[in-house]
Amino acid sequence: MSAKSLAGASSNPVHVAVIMDGNGRWARERGLPRGKGHEAGAESVRAVVRACRDHGIRYLTLYAFSVENWRRPREEVQGLMGLLRRFMEHEEPLLHEQQIRLRIMGRLEDLPRLVQKKLTRVMEKTAHYDAGQLILALSYGGRTEIATAARRIAEEVRDGVLDPSDVDEKVFAQHLYLPDVPDPDLMIRTSGEMRLSNFLLWQLSYAELYTTPVLWPDFREPAFAAAIDAYRSRSRRFGGVLPETEGAGC
Ligand code: FPP
Repeated sequence: MSAKSLAGASSNPVHVAVIMDGNGRWARERGLPRGKGHEAGAESVRAVVRACRDHGIRYLTLYAFSVENWRRPREEVQGLMGLLRRFMEHEEPLLHEQQIRLRIMGRLEDLPRLVQKKLTRVMEKTAHYDAGQLILALSYGGRTEIATAARRIAEEVRDGVLDPSDVDEKVFAQHLYLPDVPDPDLMIRTSGEMRLSNFLLWQLSYAELYTTPVLWPDFREPAFAAAIDAYRSRSRRFGGVLPETEGAGC
């Protein structure tokens, strides 16, 4: 590992991942139905996509719907799926204008047909853009992703494509959903919770974690800038030691 990669994180992150939490509480505080919290949350998604462009952040991964979220009341799930489709309809021009590529990680096949169709079309139309990537984790679970990778590897071993002795961290990572995307440098969770909630379990191994009590619908440019500032002040050691400080830990 180079001295450069052990140095303090004084530059901006390349990849930011976000657990967008607190929509329900935001709505409850205002005596509104939960769906209104999700709608306000969609505004924060717009704001953060723009903020990433302004901060030169190339990858933004948003945990928009987990495999566990299917257990929510039917009405809320339907509301979220409708919101996602409308968001894509309204925000597609922004992706073209800013040359941002849309990608999905998760079990796209679980989503309603119309939503799948809309997302697939936008992914195809933006596939050639290179200014940044907006990655939506949808019907996503970290354990599901890891188990799927393990199954693919087992199939390749069975088919004689891979030898068991070839399977190391690098080969394993190549079988995850988006192997070309670098691991997140920074993971933000809003609403004060301190859990990973099955999000990017493999990829977050060395991410800096940042939590804020701000509820997702209130998480706009100033809150995002504060998270980036906090990241820039961190020392990233990746299990090594900084050249000038002996004895540092993980
Ligand atoms: C968690 O808040 C949020 C979600 C499960 C959904 C995230 C969805 C959005 C931000 C809406 C739009 C997204 C896109 C990509 C258009 P919660 O409902 O668990 O809040 P609570 O913990 O306060 O109840």
